[in-house]
Amino acid sequence: MTVRASAPGKAILFGEHAVVYGKPAIAVAVDKRASVTIREGNNDHIQVKIPELNVYGVINTETGVVSQLNSEGEVDQKPGTTDVGIMKFIKSALSQTDLGSSPDHGLDITVDLEIPIGAGLGSSAAITIATLAAAARYNGQELSLENLAQMGHQVELEVQGAASPLDTTVSTLGGFLYFTHEKGAQKIKPALEMPLVVGYTSHPGNTGFLVSEVRKLCQAHPTIIKPILDIMETVTNQARESITRGDEKQVGELMNINQGLLDSLGVNTAELSRLIYHARRAGATGSKLTGAGGGGSIIAYCPGKTGEVLEELESIENAFQVGISSKGVTW
Ligand code: PMV
Repeated sequence: MTVRASAPGKAILFGEHAVVYGKPAIAVAVDKRASVTIREGNNDHIQVKIPELNVYGVINTETGVVSQLNSEGEVDQKPGTTDVGIMKFIKSALSQTDLGSSPDHGLDITVDLEIPIGAGLGSSAAITIATLAAAARYNGQELSLENLAQMGHQVELEVQGAASPLDTTVSTLGGFLYFTHEKGAQKIKPALEMPLVVGYTSHPGNTGFLVSEVRKLCQAHPTIIKPILDIMETVTNQARESITRGDEKQVGELMNINQGLLDSLGVNTAELSRLIYHARRAGATGSKLTGAGGGGSIIAYCPGKTGEVLEELESIENAFQVGISSKGVTW
């Protein structure tokens, strides 16, 4: 039997980090996806291939040990941390659906990835949601979108430590979303075009580490950091209003303010700043880091200036235009 599922990556426009503290966030699903194919394997274990990352791994179904395979198909003694990190998401997702613990035969899992890894574009959430959906299908399990998003969040918590349900929710539902902890995801109907360009620093950010660094800062300076998180909430709420009213200028201004606030949380880097300022100089109405920061990507909102911003960012680093995808998980 062969089953396949796919889920989109995401870009956070407003509210990253603050969302971990119960504040709202605005995010979009992007037109880059992770696709997971599961078929019956040739041995007792779970083989995982992610050709775009050169990851060839195996999960030992008896011991649960995750290892990288070398080009001869033997267990590599010195696996790379990012590679094993991705394998942990897959392992955890499989165990959520009972497929990881003791399947009565081995599995071959292939992940096709259009989303750059560690770029703040939700690659791990997309892989997690697509793996969960494919594994549930393989098992003949019926899962609602709500169940899927919840299980995806459990996987992120298990592998990454502190995490909000934002990434896994956007990857499950797709579209343009305003997210709060109380009400979950609400669709936003933008009254403007959202031409977006991503600039990627080539240095992956480590979400778990950055979330814990922000927590430490908040514990060290609660009377300063808590009001910053409150202001981030105000920025996100005003941004929602500007997007639904179609006020391009204000959306850009609020992105720039959000960037300043993220910098004060310690998650900005010189490389991200460089891309952010180059994007603004090339005509972006607003630009900010997107996702956890510490590396990863920036997002630039550039009505009427997409070509100029893309060209400018490409002259420094990797850049690409992202479209908003209304399609969430499919299986
Ligand atoms: O870098 P990403 O795509 O994993 O986004 C992280 C967003 C944070 O708000 C920093 C963490 C979270 O779980 O919401």
